[in-house]
Amino acid sequence: MNGPREPIGVIGTGYVGLVTAAGFAELGNEVYCVDIDEAKIEVLRSGEVPIYELGLRETIERNRERMHFSTSLADAVANARLLFVCVGTPPTYAGDADLSAVNAVVEAMPADGEHALVMKSTVPCGTGRSIQRVFAEQGKGRLAYVSCPEFLKEGSALQDFLEPDRVVVGADEEGWAPDAVCELYSPLQAPLVRTDVASAEMIKLAANAFLATKISFINEIANVCEETGANVLEVARGVGLDQRIGPKFLSAGIGYGGSCFTKDVSALKLLAANSGYHFQLLGSVIEVNELQKRRVVAKLARHLGELAGKRIGLLGLAFKPNTDDMRGASSLVLAARLAAEGATVRAYDPIASEEALKVMPELDCVPRVQDVLRDADAVVLVTEWPELVALDWAVAAELMAGKVVIDGRNALDSAAVRSAGLLYEGIGVA
Ligand code: UGA
Repeated sequence: MNGPREPIGVIGTGYVGLVTAAGFAELGNEVYCVDIDEAKIEVLRSGEVPIYELGLRETIERNRERMHFSTSLADAVANARLLFVCVGTPPTYAGDADLSAVNAVVEAMPADGEHALVMKSTVPCGTGRSIQRVFAEQGKGRLAYVSCPEFLKEGSALQDFLEPDRVVVGADEEGWAPDAVCELYSPLQAPLVRTDVASAEMIKLAANAFLATKISFINEIANVCEETGANVLEVARGVGLDQRIGPKFLSAGIGYGGSCFTKDVSALKLLAANSGYHFQLLGSVIEVNELQKRRVVAKLARHLGELAGKRIGLLGLAFKPNTDDMRGASSLVLAARLAAEGATVRAYDPIASEEALKVMPELDCVPRVQDVLRDADAVVLVTEWPELVALDWAVAAELMAGKVVIDGRNALDSAAVRSAGLLYEGIGVA
């Protein structure tokens, strides 16, 4: 690497903050992490990592000497020019982004020309402009502002950091700060989109909204395939080979989950509405996704009749594999709907049970997959964890009381399920 790397501050040690901090430490930067949560900072100082993400613990361990943890913003301000803001922007009851954590950081920023606030948190388009206005009003007009949205995916976050499809750097004025952010990312050799702040903010929201749209689209195609006898896997393959469409995010299933798509699609729809524009398409994307989560209930009822008293096993709970994140998980809707129908629901997830019980304390989570299969009238694959995809269906058939297997992710080997004497049904596949 040429020359010393720029030290950085990272404010907020949640998901995005820790991955960003670990990623830059891996690139050789000194990283000063700040969080108001004293307990979390203690945990991090002791060498523990409070979230589960593939490779994160090892990366932090490997770069321990370059990673500093503190509850005081002053530590980051004293040691770094670039202060990355990575605090949460959860949805409010109205569905907009809650900017209270961002605003608290903005209030605490130093009033000088030597620092820059680099916004990584996902914020509505227009936030950067308002923050710069606040800075000007508070006499902090010399503080630079850069928007640098994050595109990492849970489960592959570190790899996404190190091999990004692009890096977006938005600034409304030329100056040292956007140059320094570009320089920071230069070892990754990713395509760089240097633009204004509002466009950078919109790129993030539009990307997530487009990906969610792609999923809802293929889910509707899957539903039509079920009516017409076509196979959505074949359709997605044929459609995805068109380079204008691309093969990714065309996997039909029981709906997208996670905090980001759910939050950002709704935030973009409301942002548009608040600006006087009715974003019709996104309303449908959300509605299709909500209905998709519930369609499994109808599938089960078609095979089992009345669901009251039936034993249904959920295979997987997390919103996707390799994470314990339960936010927006389709399993939550499914478990609640099945319970409302009077079914007895049991669930197994390799790592997300603890998180699941925090949001659904009444859910019967069992520690072994066999306990979900035993005596079940039907099982539903909710999360395509490798160990669930690789289940031995002959063994499963012996344990189950009934025969129905609903593959909510089209991830199982349908022939293996059928040859075990079970009844296989996927999403949009014959
Ligand atoms: C998503 C985006 O993919 C990231 O680029 C973005 O940075 C992130 O949100 C964010 O805004 O922080 P993530 O929520 O981690 O990342 O998860 P994805 O891998 O995108 O999956 C989201 C959901 O869509 C999962 O429930 C997954 O099962 C579902 N999905 C995905 C489908 O149903 N079909 C597909 O073809 C792809």
